[in-house]
Amino acid sequence: MPRVLLTGGCGFIGTHTVVVLLRSGYSITVVDNLINSSLKSIERVREIAKDEGIENVDLEVEVCDMCDLDAFEKVFSKYGPSGFLSCIHFAGLKAVGESMSLPLLYYQNNLINTMNLLTLMEKYSCHRIVFSSSATVYGAAEVMPITESTRVGEGITNAYGRTKYMIEGILGDFQKSKEKNETPWSVTILRYFNPVGAHPSGKIGEDPSGPPNNLMPYVSQVAVGRREFLSVFGNDYDTPDGTGVRDYIHVMDLAEGHLSAIKFMDKKPGVYEVFNLGTGNGYSVLDMVRAMEKASGRKIEYKIVERRPGDIATCYANAVKAKEEMGWEAKLGLNEMCRDLWAWQSNNPKGFE
Ligand SMILES: NC(=O)c1ccc[n+]([C@@H]2O[C@H](COP(=O)([O-])OP(=O)(O)OC[C@H]3O[C@@H](n4cnc5c(N)ncnc54)[C@H](O)[C@@H]3O)[C@@H](O)[C@H]2O)c1
Repeated sequence: MPRVLLTGGCGFIGTHTVVVLLRSGYSITVVDNLINSSLKSIERVREIAKDEGIENVDLEVEVCDMCDLDAFEKVFSKYGPSGFLSCIHFAGLKAVGESMSLPLLYYQNNLINTMNLLTLMEKYSCHRIVFSSSATVYGAAEVMPITESTRVGEGITNAYGRTKYMIEGILGDFQKSKEKNETPWSVTILRYFNPVGAHPSGKIGEDPSGPPNNLMPYVSQVAVGRREFLSVFGNDYDTPDGTGVRDYIHVMDLAEGHLSAIKFMDKKPGVYEVFNLGTGNGYSVLDMVRAMEKASGRKIEYKIVERRPGDIATCYANAVKAKEEMGWEAKLGLNEMCRDLWAWQSNNPKGFE
């Protein structure tokens, strides 16, 4: 089977995608510098593969900082020219708040690692890339649901979001410059909405270091007793219960979206396409708290506090394009998201530690 390079494959979304690709028989090489992950996640992936009866697992892990071009080239040269058919590029720093206090670190890491990756992919004849982008690129979009043609780049409130927007632009320019090549480049940009949940085994999941930035890891840490209460940032938005509404998507559905993107590029060489990956449903903070209370059987204490600067009232996707063009759609609902998140959190109260 063709070999796929997964940058950042030890992280939250990467590990779930490894499982999905192994199920389909792909050979995989993960490159990760472990800045926000550990090799334990890959050990767990191997356990899951065994539990699921996946045969002939071909999963290699290279610990390497992609910003170090020489070290990164050693990984490519190990597999030789055309050693990778395609690449899924997850690697990057992603903490919104931290990106505002350490913007250079974010620009440096996220942009340089991408440019090194493209340089080496070109040199070693790997011309298909899936990029992990984010709904953040839509900034303060006001008209819901958000489609792929909604304006991007304006009203982005943080350096992290701007790196995603810039990388989309870099990939676009690069793909265009190779259009007339014998083997043109294919680029698929996936704009994730709010990934949550975990593999149903509860063996892998999101393992934030320090206080979580995102709602659901925080909620689950309150449920498991690691944190006392949840701060809800504002209850006076123009939404049904006053709290912010977002489009949460199960990470296994999201992982399937990457498989669909790879197959899409197999069929359509030379494309540059953007897809929203969301469910199209919006849930409020309090909807999520109640759903997690139901899944965990625990009371989740919360306090209403001031709005957070930069937050918008409502954000949800129109994901019809992904269905029509890649045949992908989210299948799992709120109950499965919370059930599987609870399986992960309750089995691993301190994450992979
Ligand atoms: N989780 C979300 O809510 C969300 C939403 C939208 C987009 N994304 C994007 O999806 C991608 C994956 O997100 P995630 O939640 O799995 O994050 P994660 O932090 O769990 O995984 C990212 C991985 O990249 C690795 N990494 C970072 N810089 C690297 C470098 N220079 N060299 C090698 N490895 C490096 C980290 O060690 C980590 O394992 C990221 O690009 C993120 O910005 C995530």
